[in-house]
Amino acid sequence: MWDFWLFPQSVSTIAPEVDRLTLVMTALSFLFAFPVAALIVYFAIKYRRGSPANRAGAIVTSHTLEATWIAVPLVLALGLYGWGARLYFDMYEIPPGGIDVYVVGKQWMWQFEHPSGQREINELHIPVNRPVRLTMISQDVIHSFYAPDFRIKRDVLPGRYTTLWFEATQTGSYHLFCAEYCGTQHSGMVGRIVVVEPRQYQEWLAQRPLDLAQPIPEQTGGQFGATQPMASAGETLFHTLGCSTCHLPNGRGTGPSLVGLYRSEVLLASGETVLADAQYIRRSIIDPNAQIVAGYPPIMPTYAGQVSEEELLRLVEYIRSLSAEEQRQEEPPSDGG
Ligand code: CUA
Repeated sequence: MWDFWLFPQSVSTIAPEVDRLTLVMTALSFLFAFPVAALIVYFAIKYRRGSPANRAGAIVTSHTLEATWIAVPLVLALGLYGWGARLYFDMYEIPPGGIDVYVVGKQWMWQFEHPSGQREINELHIPVNRPVRLTMISQDVIHSFYAPDFRIKRDVLPGRYTTLWFEATQTGSYHLFCAEYCGTQHSGMVGRIVVVEPRQYQEWLAQRPLDLAQPIPEQTGGQFGATQPMASAGETLFHTLGCSTCHLPNGRGTGPSLVGLYRSEVLLASGETVLADAQYIRRSIIDPNAQIVAGYPPIMPTYAGQVSEEELLRLVEYIRSLSAEEQRQEEPPSDGG
């Protein structure tokens, strides 16, 4: 119904609602702008200097008129605000049962890693009719993940995870852009999102086309190999970096146990309580003294500069895998075949 020629395709669950809101706002703007513009022109001609128009009976004050032009736009604006806010929350509250994909933006490419370990550049394979949660970070400057056919856009920042979710409603290949000027080849920082049937997606995930010694091809699209599941790559790092010597799973270590940590409430030495999300975990590795867990001494060294953004994401995924509840939630729903 809303698929006008001037709109990009609409292939996500939120796209129709975004279009409806955009159209209503545009229509209301015209509704106000047109009569005002037309009356300005009409009155300018009718009451121009020297015209014989009747100037008697000019209204000086009308409380009814004033109350009306305050009340009507107020109600309309609040209505749009409520509608927009609800849509905003729908867009940013991630529904359960989705799949996760980790995104690293860098000058000038998009790098994706699936929890199974499958990696790709400038191409993102996802299943249709399933929420996809993106956890995104930049390795250098600010980028912006923009997929107009899904009506999603969010900045990808250095030093901080941003998340975004969407659910594709149609298979196909769709544009992906960087929507934030990020240097010379910003306009070339494009890719595609490939939406496939769940069965094809599983087959795609099972592929192991390139061996892990293969260097990452620069500026090319496509898959560049799957090594091992992100959680087990993270576990290996956890041991090689020495994290496992302090963070014992039984809680008797020098540092707190990380079992069941993900998405739990953590009491800090400052008395504050924080949610242990991906951002908290990343910060605890890079800047460990910023948020000290209550009951533990501030002795953890920083790992800034020792781990890449990709490695940090694998550590996050490993710590996430230690939370049983999270694993249950990530069980794929049956897709009827
Ligand atoms: Cu990245 Cu523009």
